[in-house]
Amino acid sequence: MALKKFPGFIDVHVHLREPGATHKEDFATGSRAAVAGGFTFVIDMPNNPEPTVTLARLEEKVRLADAKAVCDIGFHYGTDGRNAATFAKAAAHPRVFGLKVYLNHTTGDLLIEDISALTEIFRRWPAGKPILVHAEGVQLAAAIALARLYRQRLHVCHISQAVEVELVRQAKARRQAITAGVCPHHLFLTGAARETHGSRAIMKPPLGTDRDQAALWEGLGDGTIDIVETDHAPHTKREKQADPPPYGVPGLETAVGLLFSAVHDGKLSESDVVRLLHDRPREIFAIPGQEATFVELDPQAPYRVGPPYASKCDWSPFEGWQAYGRPRRVRLRGKIVRG
Ligand code: NCD
Ligand code: ZN
Ligand code: ZN
Repeated sequence: MALKKFPGFIDVHVHLREPGATHKEDFATGSRAAVAGGFTFVIDMPNNPEPTVTLARLEEKVRLADAKAVCDIGFHYGTDGRNAATFAKAAAHPRVFGLKVYLNHTTGDLLIEDISALTEIFRRWPAGKPILVHAEGVQLAAAIALARLYRQRLHVCHISQAVEVELVRQAKARRQAITAGVCPHHLFLTGAARETHGSRAIMKPPLGTDRDQAALWEGLGDGTIDIVETDHAPHTKREKQADPPPYGVPGLETAVGLLFSAVHDGKLSESDVVRLLHDRPREIFAIPGQEATFVELDPQAPYRVGPPYASKCDWSPFEGWQAYGRPRRVRLRGKIVRG
């Protein structure tokens, strides 16, 4: 077995659920899932039951994370359309990496549907750190237009439809400051998985068609899509059995192994993986360097995805899949945090 050293991977899109939904995940279990998956820096989303839309809630998250996490954690600030007065301080906060805006219904209640509220958000967020959007289909066209009008850097979260890849490609061709992230579940699954996985294949944005999936791989190939982000969105097994089930799937522990399976299949190179999960996320979100931080794994060694998982939710939509390159040892600033 030939272990190779990779930089600590970065996931700019996770939901670690603390505070407010720690029966699903918390900063201890979520960060253990991160390092088990080879990530040493993750950025937590603001859609907690009490969303991260005030500076006090932001500071509370910083405190909770610092008390428990085994990897580095950053935060995206949230908006309910009424907190623009706090934007300047939030944007200047060293632990904040962007503003997250929800243009579609998903877990939590940060949805902004009103065009005036949306415009005000794009007008008031201080330029510099990106605005990240959950924006599906026509909502993405609106976000791209607003970002252009108000000269905001836009990051498109979990791009999933062929038409969205086309919109981002055209915006880039016109030199707009736009980047996009894709999730492993949209790359490796299609809506057909709802037959086999039931509610464990339900997330927002939903799994797409074969054509959407092909467009995502094409977008990775031609540089339209900049990064892979997991959108780690744990819910308990029991919650997923409810009708309707909550949206979301865990992803921190399987992303790296799935990407190395794409390397094995000749769809990506090892340096693509490092670019998608480290170099570009770091550039886009200006993430500080982590000294003496490495993941050791054998990218050619197959393994089977299965329990036990470090994530509190204890399941994966990829259970039973063959993946490659299970992280064997993770070092953060010289200290072994896994292995
Ligand atoms: C996310 C969650 O559960 O927090 N769910 C999901 O299906 N992706 C929210 C989100 O990212 O939209
Ligand atoms: Zn989302
Ligand atoms: Zn998300």
